[in-house]
Amino acid sequence: MVFLRKYLFYFINWISRTFFASRLSFAHIQAFIFNNSCKKIGNLLHVHWDIRHGKTITSSRPYIFVFEVTNVCNLKCPFCLTGKGIFGGREVRHMSFAESKHIIDAVADYTYLLQLYTWGEPLLNKDLIQIIEYAKQRNMYVMLSTNATLMTPAYNEKLLNSGIDYVMVAIDGGSDETYKQYRVGGNYLKVLANVKDLLEQRKAKKIAHPFVEWQFIVFRHNEHEVKETEKLAYSIGINKFTPLPAYVENEKWLPTLKEYKKSTIYNPERLKNCDRPWSHLNVRADGGIAPCCFEFFKKDDFGNLKKDDFEEFWNNAYFQESRRLIYQHSKSKGRKIDDSNLICHGCLTTGVRPSYIEKKSDTPK
Ligand SMILES: C[S@@+](CC[C@H](N)C(=O)[O-])C[C@H]1O[C@@H](n2cnc3c(N)ncnc32)[C@H](O)[C@@H]1O
Ligand code: SF4
Repeated sequence: MVFLRKYLFYFINWISRTFFASRLSFAHIQAFIFNNSCKKIGNLLHVHWDIRHGKTITSSRPYIFVFEVTNVCNLKCPFCLTGKGIFGGREVRHMSFAESKHIIDAVADYTYLLQLYTWGEPLLNKDLIQIIEYAKQRNMYVMLSTNATLMTPAYNEKLLNSGIDYVMVAIDGGSDETYKQYRVGGNYLKVLANVKDLLEQRKAKKIAHPFVEWQFIVFRHNEHEVKETEKLAYSIGINKFTPLPAYVENEKWLPTLKEYKKSTIYNPERLKNCDRPWSHLNVRADGGIAPCCFEFFKKDDFGNLKKDDFEEFWNNAYFQESRRLIYQHSKSKGRKIDDSNLICHGCLTTGVRPSYIEKKSDTPK
């Protein structure tokens, strides 16, 4: 069963990567099937027409919305910028329901999927349930990734009732001893009990959503626990178990097993085929408009939600320049593209995710 399930997910992920432009997953396919409309399909085709033809000014709308509802976290994961206390010159805060509603209203008719995290722990935002409920009313597929430390039976009930579609729980280990080496400040037995409660309540309610994925970041200290944890995950009702290659800043953390060694963080080819300034809207917790989820520092933002409405920033000079650079790069056949101070220039020419550059820089614009 475990074997079949694994290959089914590989197959679905292969379909999504092959037939859609960005790195889409099972959540995106579900969103396409269950949260569609004629307007959304029309917009999707429009977006891809614009990408193909290098349109820098567009009347199409993003169909994926990555919304950082908070940039605060209760854990101190050592290779996470937030965990290290680096905030990129941003105000540290939660998005309110009123702010969220305003931006959701601007894109809901066109957007399939709402991802409610970038950096930070989304469950710390006290308006989170209200935000999810509203997005569901607006026919969006809603997903989040959580460290699962803050779940309680009462909170889980609200989460299930909110209609959320996909919950990714990030638990990197099969014992407290290994788990707490990366999830510093967390407790394995507590998070496991939290997730079991969520799954039991889901079963008792006889509902299929949310789809729950257990993401296990594989490091040297926990690689020997992957197989056993996978069995445990499926035995408690997890829908998908994903051993994820880790981003590490120290070789000693790298797993020894080949299958878990390759980090997806430095993937020049994927970054060079970028379509995000057309297809994705990225809003950070301080209202910063980012070109993609890899941008971290405030100084690289393309705008700010508190100052501009969607119509004002979506075709502003930054977005136009990024689309122009990306299109030029796609046609350059290895030739040098125009110099630019825009963050996309470094990303396209080096293929390194911008959030991992200038790790020590935390200076505001
Ligand atoms: C920055 S976290 C924010 C969401 C939430 N706090 C969490 O941990 O799930 C976003 C995603 O990055 C993942 N992540 C954290 N550290 C990582 C690492 N060293 N390598 C790969 N992914 C990592 C998390 O597991 C999570 O899925
Ligand atoms: S729980 Fe998530 S946001 Fe918090 S420090 Fe760890 S990876 Fe970063």
